[in-house]
Amino acid sequence: MPASRPLAPAPAPASERARSAGQGLHVAIISDGNGRWASSRGLPRSAGHRAGAEAARRIIEASPRVGIHTLTLFALSSANWKRPAAEVNAILRLLHEYLLTETAHCVEQGVRLSVIGRRDRVPAALRQAIADSEAATARGTRLHLRLAIDYSARDAIFHAACRFYKVTELSPESFSRVLAEVYRGGSTEVDLLIRTGGEQRLSDFLLWECAFAEFLFVRKAWPDFTVADLEAALEEFAHRERTRGALPDALAG
Ligand code: FPP
Repeated sequence: MPASRPLAPAPAPASERARSAGQGLHVAIISDGNGRWASSRGLPRSAGHRAGAEAARRIIEASPRVGIHTLTLFALSSANWKRPAAEVNAILRLLHEYLLTETAHCVEQGVRLSVIGRRDRVPAALRQAIADSEAATARGTRLHLRLAIDYSARDAIFHAACRFYKVTELSPESFSRVLAEVYRGGSTEVDLLIRTGGEQRLSDFLLWECAFAEFLFVRKAWPDFTVADLEAALEEFAHRERTRGALPDALAG
């Protein structure tokens, strides 16, 4: 066998590169496919949402380790009120249960939890659990977990625009700040948007924050999405060239 040049060291995994660059990524997930996952097993749709909540726990737990500093999960869209009340109530109960059982764990793990979305239409007990959980986890710095509940990006942008006329500094940055105030939980640019379940649309999720996001559409239903799938998504993201409209480095000279 001819002598060959020594192999270049294998590139570090994407998560390692994100961590060592000290950046951390904002990953947003449209966790779709719970209903179909359940139906294909002859189970009620609520069983799919329960399995979806388990998947969310796994992904939240792994996020800081794989280089994610902000994780935004679409738990209930404002459009989901059109579903049968029993299904919406099952999702709201799951979210309430999640906050009650996981808040202490979030504190231990350094996870700061915020909710983005309207709060006036969710049950009062859930509203209280959200406030309690946000207060208890406010000092977390390892991961900012944002749960989108009764969330509509159009609605958020509309309400920010209604407030914006009072602002004297007219700039995209100051608009972002107003948007962050509208539903609390901040407003930061999304690096990677993942949608499970095979559909390829944004469904009124983070329209402003996704202006320069990379999109990844995964066929798997959300309950089947694993930490290995998340790592594979980050690996693919690391190979995307993000020019934000500029020329790629190699061509710029
Ligand atoms: C979309 O699947 C999913 C939802 C509308 C609800 C998502 C809720 C969770 C994942 C649980 C809450 C999360 C946490 C953090 C506890 P779908 O019902 O639209 O699925 P389909 O497209 O197959 O019908």
